[in-house]
Amino acid sequence: MLIGQRVTLRGITRDDLERQWQFNNDVEVELSGGGDPPYPQSLARLQAEYDQDVAKGGRDDTAFAIEVDGKYIGQCALFRYDNVASTCELGITIGDKDYWAKGYGREAITLLLGYAFRLRNMRKVWLEVNGHNPRAISAYKACGFIEEGRLRAHVWSNGQYVDLVQMGVLRDEWLPKQTEL
Ligand SMILES: CC(C)(COP(=O)(O)OP(=O)(O)OC[C@H]1O[C@@H](n2cnc3c(N)ncnc32)[C@H](O)[C@@H]1OP(=O)(O)O)[C@@H](O)C(=O)NCCC(=O)NCCS
Repeated sequence: MLIGQRVTLRGITRDDLERQWQFNNDVEVELSGGGDPPYPQSLARLQAEYDQDVAKGGRDDTAFAIEVDGKYIGQCALFRYDNVASTCELGITIGDKDYWAKGYGREAITLLLGYAFRLRNMRKVWLEVNGHNPRAISAYKACGFIEEGRLRAHVWSNGQYVDLVQMGVLRDEWLPKQTEL
């Protein structure tokens, strides 16, 4: 649906779930994701949740599969829409570690910001990130996010308290830097 140079963002299919299940049970991936501790998850539960959601009909929500080289490598999403303030939160997880630190995250985030600002008329996109996740923070900064706040020693992560960093990007700062989608 959203096509970049190397990255495509598309709807999530049932065939993606087996790889997603592996990602969800990878403690390294889960720990980098944010504040929640890792929990085990069965493939059956993931499939049941997917099937329940599909049974509702209509359109998918704004969660996208990240596809590179025809392969499903993770997910990204916009959520917590505030339709009064025109803001939403962004989340991303590349679960296939072979695809970390090669610019795919940055491209996926850029596509998602284009969707938020141009197609959904959002005014601001924000996120929260574990302060001990420099790879994610660098990728977010490269896409225009700036640090807006820091909750000190706020999250228990892998045996220690870490800061929770709050970041945001405004459409007015982002749009002038972009070429047309
Ligand atoms: C966070 C994530 C989306 C970033 O995507 P990516 O494709 O790996 O990142 P990119 O290659 O686009 O950019 C990574 C940046 O971090 C830097 N980097 C890479 N590894 C690093 C490390 N171990 N420490 C510090 N910086 C690092 C890269 O040099 C690059 O910055 P630069 O362009 O300024 O040099 C992806 O790594 C991911 O999903 N990780 C697991 C889940 C996660 O952390 N999600 C974020 C939750 S808030």
